[in-house]
Amino acid sequence: MSGDKTNSGRRRFLTAATSVVGAVGVGFVLVPFVSSMQPSAKARAAGAPVRADISKLEPGQMIRVKWRGKPVWLVRRTDKMLEVLPTLDSQLRDPESLESDQPDYAQNAYRSIKPEVLITVGICTHLGCSPTYRPDAGAADLGADWEGGFFCPCHGSKFDLAGRVYKSVPAPTNLVIPPHRYLSETELVIGDDGEVA
Ligand code: FES
Repeated sequence: MSGDKTNSGRRRFLTAATSVVGAVGVGFVLVPFVSSMQPSAKARAAGAPVRADISKLEPGQMIRVKWRGKPVWLVRRTDKMLEVLPTLDSQLRDPESLESDQPDYAQNAYRSIKPEVLITVGICTHLGCSPTYRPDAGAADLGADWEGGFFCPCHGSKFDLAGRVYKSVPAPTNLVIPPHRYLSETELVIGDDGEVA
């Protein structure tokens, strides 16, 4: 009886030891394979999130960063700019951003996490030109009713200061809002919002 116990204990030990050896063996085989599947450093850099510091971004100003080879604009909107946005809805093609591309947390009246800070990809949704930042309300070349926004010189598309496209222009949808999140009051990361894809 005690011999049986000893044998079964020994069997369990041998089984466990074999499993460990097996796992180590598999580990040795897998490591080179997993390494070969890692994206190159260049590819990682091309898609990597980027940080932006908005501590010196004054009301009305815009700064640019590059993410995945695209321009991303960060605009600190003034109170006046924010007040105008809801008055434009009837002139816009997709005022509620139902057909446009943005994370859920930016599908709101300001298309942003914080009302005062707009973050958008600076590429026209028509054929990919980069619009110009035109915050100057009433600009002579854009019409007396221009309330400030973005103007694409390629074919004349106009967007408001939430990146929402006006009616009767070639661009079909609003400017894209990239995934992003705040690390602090003045620093944020673009290209990573912490949500599982
Ligand atoms: S690319 Fe902007 S209007 Fe055509």
